[in-house]
Amino acid sequence: MPLSKDALWYKDAIIYQVHVRTFHDSNGDGIGDFQGLEKKLDYLQELGISAIWLMPFFPSPLRDDGYDIADYNGVHSSYGTLEDFRKLLEAAHERGIRVIIEMVLNHTSDQHPWFQEARSSRENPRRDWYVWSDTDARYKGARIIFLDTETSNWAWDPISKSFYWHRFFSHQPDLNYDNPAVREQMWNVMKFWLDMGVDAFRLDAVPYLVEREDTNCENLPETHNILKELRRKLDEQFTGRMLLAEANQWPADLRPYFGEGDEFHMAFHFPLMPRMFMGLKLEDRKPITEILQQTPEIPPSCQWSLFLRNHDELTLEMVTDMERDYMYDMYAENKTMRLNLGIRRRLAPLLNNDRRRVELMNGMLMSLPGTPIIYYGDEIGMGDNISLGDRNGVRTPMQWSGGKNGGFSGAEAERLCAPLIQDPVYGYPAVNVLAQRESEHSLLRWMQRIVTVRRSTGVFGRGSIEFLHAANHRILAYLRRLGKEAVLVVNNLSNSAQAVELDLQRYKGNILIEMFGNNIFPRVGELPYLLTMGPYQFYWFRLRRV
Ligand code: GLC
Ligand code: CA
Repeated sequence: MPLSKDALWYKDAIIYQVHVRTFHDSNGDGIGDFQGLEKKLDYLQELGISAIWLMPFFPSPLRDDGYDIADYNGVHSSYGTLEDFRKLLEAAHERGIRVIIEMVLNHTSDQHPWFQEARSSRENPRRDWYVWSDTDARYKGARIIFLDTETSNWAWDPISKSFYWHRFFSHQPDLNYDNPAVREQMWNVMKFWLDMGVDAFRLDAVPYLVEREDTNCENLPETHNILKELRRKLDEQFTGRMLLAEANQWPADLRPYFGEGDEFHMAFHFPLMPRMFMGLKLEDRKPITEILQQTPEIPPSCQWSLFLRNHDELTLEMVTDMERDYMYDMYAENKTMRLNLGIRRRLAPLLNNDRRRVELMNGMLMSLPGTPIIYYGDEIGMGDNISLGDRNGVRTPMQWSGGKNGGFSGAEAERLCAPLIQDPVYGYPAVNVLAQRESEHSLLRWMQRIVTVRRSTGVFGRGSIEFLHAANHRILAYLRRLGKEAVLVVNNLSNSAQAVELDLQRYKGNILIEMFGNNIFPRVGELPYLLTMGPYQFYWFRLRRV
C-alpha cells in the first residue's frame, strides 16, 4: 500500500505510539531495536494503523528514557545504526505507514557536548546556548513540572559556579532560544531528519522555549514566534510533513499553537483525556461535552490528536483541584500509582480490565473529532507494573506470545531492558498478541475491526460535531457530518442498561445503518428516536436517505 498523496494525511491517520526500546529485540541483547520494530511492521499493518510515532531513539544517557538527548543527529547504539533507521523508514513507507519522530527542542541532556562546552567556562562561545544566572531567584513565576523529583527550576553548576535553568529534570538544561544560533541549529537538526524522509515530528514540551520575568514562562508570544518560524521553514523546503505539539495546556492556551494554520498542524487535546475517564466514572456526559464546548474552532488544515494513554503519567494538570481529587480517588486509590500531578497506569488496569469499558473508551477515541493515537500494548489490554519507578511501569516490553520473555527477546531474563509483566491477570502468558490473533473475540481482533470501520469513512477525521442533548445524561450522543455524509454516535457511559430518546427530526425519513454489522435500524419518523442500550454499549450509525 503506497503512502497517500494527500498533504492533509494526518487528518485521516490512526497513529500508533511505540517505544523502539521495548517493542521487539532482534539480536537477543535484551533491548528492542529498529530491526525488531521493522519485523513487526506486518503486525501494525494488520492492526490497520497508518502512522507510527517513535519515542526518542537518539544517543542519550537515558536518564529520562531518551528525552535527554546527547546528539540530535544520530541514533542510540542499542537500537541499531542510522542505516537501520533508514531501512525501517523505508519499510514503513512501503506499507503506507508514515513515521513521526520525537524532537525535543526545549532541552538537551547535560551530557550533550554543547552543554559540556557551555559549562566549561563563562567565556566559552557556547556559554549563551543555555540559560545561566548568578542567583536562583529569577523567573519565580514558573511552576515545577516534575514535582516528585525537583525542588527548583534552577540547578547549580559547580564547574562554572552558576545556576542553569531546567523545566524538567536537573540533568536536562534548557536551551536558550533567545540566541539565534540555537534556533538555527535546531532547524538544522529538524532538516537533517526531514531530508532523510521522516514525515512528522512530535515536538516535545513546546510551551517552555522562552522565559521572561514576571510571567509563568509558558506560551509566551516569543515562543510562538519561534515555532512559527520553524513552520515557515518547513513549508518553504518540504511538502506533506507535519508538526504535532505537545503542549499540556487549557483549550484557550492551546488554540494559539495552531495560529492561522501557520504554526502546528496538530496538537494533543490534553484537557479532554482525563474528562473521558471522569465521564465514565460519574456516568455522566457533562465533563466531556463541557470541555469540547470550551474547545475553540481550529483552522481547516489543523487537527486535534486524541489519546487515552501514553508513555507518561495520565496527567491531571488540566483539571480543577476538585476534579483531580476525584480522579485520584477513583483511579489511583493506591498512592504508589500517583506521580507528579498524574496517575502512572495503563488503560486496561485503569478500567479494571472491563472489556466493555475498554471498548467504549476506544469507541469514543475513534469517533470524537481528531486523530486517534493508540499506545502500544493497549490494543491487547496490557497491564502495568507499579513497582517500577517513575513512568517505567507503563513502558514494559510488548507481549508477543506466551513463550520465553513473552516473545520480546531471546536474552536471559536478567539482561532485559525492563521486566515483562508477570502477574496472573495481565502477564504475558495470559495477555499476548499470538493468543489474541488466534481468538476471534479477542480485544486485538476487535481493535482491528474498529480501526477498519473508522477508516471506512472520512467523517470521523474531518467532519463537524454536534451534540444531541437527550434528557438522559448518561448518554453521550453526537452527529458527525462531512458533506452529504452523517454519522450518529451514541455512547452509554453507565454501568446499567439505559433508554434514550433522540431528536432526529432533521433526518426524518432516513434509515440508520449500524456500522459494525451493517444492519438496518428503523426509519426516523415523527417521534423522538428511541434506543435501548446495554451497560457501556455504544453505536455508530450511518444515516441514509433511501
Ligand atoms: C515530555 C515527555 C516526557 C519527558 C518530558 C521531558 O513531557 O512526554 O516523557 O519526560 O517531556 O523531556
Ligand atoms: Ca537488541
